Order: sequence, then C-alpha cells, then structure tokens
Amino acid sequence: MKKFVIRGGRALRGEVSVSGSKNAALPILLAALSVFGTSVISGVPKIGDTEVALELLRDLGATVTRQGDTVRINTDSAAFCVPSCEAVAKIRASTYLIGASLARFGEAHILKFGGCGFCERPIDLHIYAAKALGARVEGERMCTDGLRGGEINFRVPSVGATINALIMAASAVGESVIRGYAREPHVLSLIDFLVSAGAKISLTEHEIRVTGSHLSSGVAQIRGDMIEAGSYLAAAVMTGGELTVTGAPRGELSAYLDFLAALGAAPACRGDRVSLGRIKSPRYTTLTAAPYPAYPTDLQPIAAPMLAALAGGKITDTVWESRFGYLDALESFGIRSHKFHSGAEIYPSKIIPATVTSPDLRGGMACVLSALAADGESVIYAADTVLRGYESIEEKLRAVGADIRVVD
Ligand code: EPZ
Repeated sequence: MKKFVIRGGRALRGEVSVSGSKNAALPILLAALSVFGTSVISGVPKIGDTEVALELLRDLGATVTRQGDTVRINTDSAAFCVPSCEAVAKIRASTYLIGASLARFGEAHILKFGGCGFCERPIDLHIYAAKALGARVEGERMCTDGLRGGEINFRVPSVGATINALIMAASAVGESVIRGYAREPHVLSLIDFLVSAGAKISLTEHEIRVTGSHLSSGVAQIRGDMIEAGSYLAAAVMTGGELTVTGAPRGELSAYLDFLAALGAAPACRGDRVSLGRIKSPRYTTLTAAPYPAYPTDLQPIAAPMLAALAGGKITDTVWESRFGYLDALESFGIRSHKFHSGAEIYPSKIIPATVTSPDLRGGMACVLSALAADGESVIYAADTVLRGYESIEEKLRAVGADIRVVD
C-alpha cells in the first residue's frame, strides 16, 4: 500500500490538464467485449481502475494493447470464463461484465463486485434489466439463449444499470426501450461508442430506443474528467492560489461552477479552460447532490473541506444518503461537522495537519485537499484508493507548487 506525504500551506498556481474521465472510460472499455473485431479507444486515463478493467478483458481472452492514452481491444479470441474474483472485487465497473458477457457469450456470473464501499450498492436493477432482455438467473450464474429486445422501466436512474441495459440492448435481437434512465454524460459517451459499432440508438427526454446489431469495430474518444477538474479547482480554493484547469468538460461542470460562485468564487471559463482564484468574501453555502444535471454526488466529498475552510455550509446527498463516512477522516484535519440523515452540516474550521487512512476514492481526495491547506506535514495512508481515479496526481500537483510525494 502506498501513502501520500504532503507538506501543506503553499498556494498552488499554474495550469493542470485534466485526463480522460474514469467513469466514461470504464463502461466503454468493458462494453468493447461485446464488440467484434478491434475497438480503438483514445483518451483512456492510466489509473488503477482502468488497469483492472484491461486485466479483466485479457482474462476473457481479448487482446489489449495500450499506446499512450489509446487502447486497442481485439476480441476475436475472446472466450467465456468466470473472471478473477480478485480483479472483480477491486472495481465497481466489473458489474458491466454482466451486460457485456451476456451479450457476447450468453453467460455471466454475479460475483462480489468491488468499488468504493461508502454505502450499500445493490445490483437488483442490473439483474432486472438482464431478465427483461431474456436472461435467466440460476444461483450466481446468468445465462440466455440469445438476448432479445424488451421494455425496461427503471424505478431510479441508476448509472450502472442503464449502462448494462444499453450494452445488452445493443447486441439483442430487435428493439428495446429503456425508461427512467440515467442521463450522466458518460452514459451518452457509451451510446456514441455503441452507435460507432453499429447499434441504432435514439434518445428522448423520457426514453432510449435501441435496435440491436452485430457490433464490430467501435471507436471512442474519452471526454475530460469533470470530477478531476472539480477536484483541482477545489485545490485552488483550499490553498488560496490560482489554478487553470484545461481540458475541462465545461458543460458538465455547470452545477459545480454554480456552487463555486455561491461560495463567493468567480470562476472564469474560456473554451475548455476554467480558472479560479482566491475567494475574498466567502459565504455560507448549501448544496444538494442528485442525478445529472444536478450537483454530482462524486463532488460532494470534495465540497466539504472547501466549506470548512470558508464560511461553512450544508451538504445533502440524495443519491448515496450515507456517503458521509469520510467526515470521520476529515475530523483529524480539524474539520468539524455534524451528520444527519442524508446530509451533514460543515462548520468553519481551522485545518491542521493529520495522519489518516484514505476512506475511499473521493473521500481520500477530500483528505488530500485538506492536507494541501494545512500548515505542516500530513500523511494519508491507502493512497492507492485515490490513485484508482486520479491520473498522475503527484506530478500534476507538484507542477503547480504542491509538496506532495507518493511513498511505497
Ligand atoms: C456510478 O456508480 C459511479 N461509478 C459512481 O462514482 C457514482 O457515485 C454513481 O454512479 C452515481 O453517479 C462508476 O461510474 C464506476 P448508480 P453506480 O447505480 O453506477 C441505486 C466514483 O467516485 N441503485 O447510479 O454504482 C443506488 O443505491 C464512483 O467515481 C439501486 O437501487 O451508481 C443509488 O442510490 C463512486 N439498484 C442510486 O441507484 C441498483 O441495482 C444510484 O446508483 C443500482 C443502483
């Protein structure tokens, strides 16, 4: 296990370029299993989670090569096997193997899927979607004699279940209709990929219609990571510095930029560049994380240290109601809070150095942000949880003046 050693209290200044989005890359990489021939995917970040996804594809017989940020996946020799439980347990995106494996081999297994454990993470909607398209469940095994089009009505807009539904529907015989779908931008990226491989997909506000096809040779360019962009903008706020993030998906960041403006910041946007300087008159701010286009749940742990460093505020999360365990780690940094059902009040606090263990990916990033603000040395154990989702974080932060080291 690695650890971060951070000597904080330095104002960060300069430019940080945003890498490809983790949550856009993972569905496309795993969906490529259902695509015949070679798929070419560019802008794939080199992070823990994408490396595990590529390992899973290799286990299933795909030939995977990476050149820079471009990944080529050839599935001519792909063959069904039960994937390595160890790899599956490392990332949440391994759930996409339900759809991809059923689509390609007519068989999949329900295993102990991994990812951040901040909440109960059910998969009932993934299984419901598979059944609606003709899969059977026999204990841990799922199988089908051939997926066929069907009607799927989700009771909540699950990102993962929508992704699985799309992957299966794109290879099924006939037309499928998906309602109550998640409209996160990475769902749209997956649709573009499946269309490039031959699926026919149309979208209205209420439903997605998919006509399946024999998919081959998909292409994709992964969009910039809005969570990474938001995290580095938060680093400017935390250190009283001035940062410009480049390659930022400006449109996707709207709710976050509104939040920063409510804090008292004046983010300046030009094309894919967003700049942020010191906040001179901070204001008490409330935010509610909810499905896209509302404020993203993955940026709610990033908001907490900012609220603490400024005038305080209140966070509510309607997606993951108990995603507040990370506040226990932030308490070591002097950040005072009070949790309530589906939210927390964050009090203005003096942030001090601490030694903590990263609770999960975004909670770990909240610890990194706190350490950057605290005068003195902090140590954050289990840095690997953060490296799962942030490419070259050490190099990127050092380049703008941070004293941060990743130590084995
Ligand atoms: C994705 O998780 C992301 N993960 C998460 O990001 C993100 O927090 C989440 O979407 C919400 O935006 C990846 O993309 C790999 P969901 P996912 O299914 O797909 C309920 C990060 O930090 N639900 O949209 O697992 C569930 O309980 C990670 O990068 C069911 O009830 O989330 C939750 O309340 C952490 N039954 C809501 O839906 C199901 O079968 C949304 O979950 C599935 C979900």
